[in-house]
Amino acid sequence: MTYQVILPAAGQGKRMGAGKNKLLLELNGIPVLIHTLRVFEQDEACSNIIVAIHPQDEAEFKALFTKYNVAKAIRLVPGGKERQDSIYNALRTVEIDGVILVHDAARPFISQEHINSLTKMAEETGAAILGVPVKDTIKKVIDGVVVETVERSSLWAVQTPQAFRISLLTEAYERAEKDYFLGTDDASLVERLGHPVSVVEGDYDNIKLTTPEDLYFAEAILEKRKRLDQGKK
Ligand code: CTP
Ligand code: MG
Repeated sequence: MTYQVILPAAGQGKRMGAGKNKLLLELNGIPVLIHTLRVFEQDEACSNIIVAIHPQDEAEFKALFTKYNVAKAIRLVPGGKERQDSIYNALRTVEIDGVILVHDAARPFISQEHINSLTKMAEETGAAILGVPVKDTIKKVIDGVVVETVERSSLWAVQTPQAFRISLLTEAYERAEKDYFLGTDDASLVERLGHPVSVVEGDYDNIKLTTPEDLYFAEAILEKRKRLDQGKK
């Protein structure tokens, strides 16, 4: 079974503070955008990649696709004001058939294994997201004072990819637009329809590069992978 993927890449990277889209920053000499793209390019089950980009990045992104020989057909769509707008622009270009993944271009460490298990789950249930159990104790704080310690055993930090039957995600986006609802992830739009969203356990390496210190974690993850690869040789 094949799937398509939307990679939202049209952000500004404000919290990274690099003065440019953080996806252009390099890890091991390769831009973050290319690290993420390669995972899907190398996956035979991935039939179509749609990248939402900011018009100001278009020329630079296109040059990178050429430089790094990205061979798989990539469809570029203009991003929108919010992440949700970018994804909706991409979703509108897709034929309603099968499963679609939405994956933040800023998460370059997604593993093939988790893409497979997530896609399989979405085929079965219509909606599936990757997540990991929360490790910290989480408290609800208002005006600097704790109002509640939330029971941790049921808390999960959710990641991307998030995978959906295309018809279901389209319905969710249409409904969100009609209601002026802005969610922080795609699953929250589907949840509003009352459709159950399955959670597949991912791993803690699948970080989103958000603030400068995430780059240190990213280097460490790359080092770990290099050591593992060397061990296999
Ligand atoms: N994104 C997008 N369109 C937007 C905003 C974000 O396609 N209008 C993408 C980003 O490029 C990123 C992903 O959504 O790959 C997750 O967003 P985030 O981590 O918030 O990235 P930025 O919006 O770029 O960063 P910041 O919020 O710090 O400006
Ligand atoms: Mg953002």
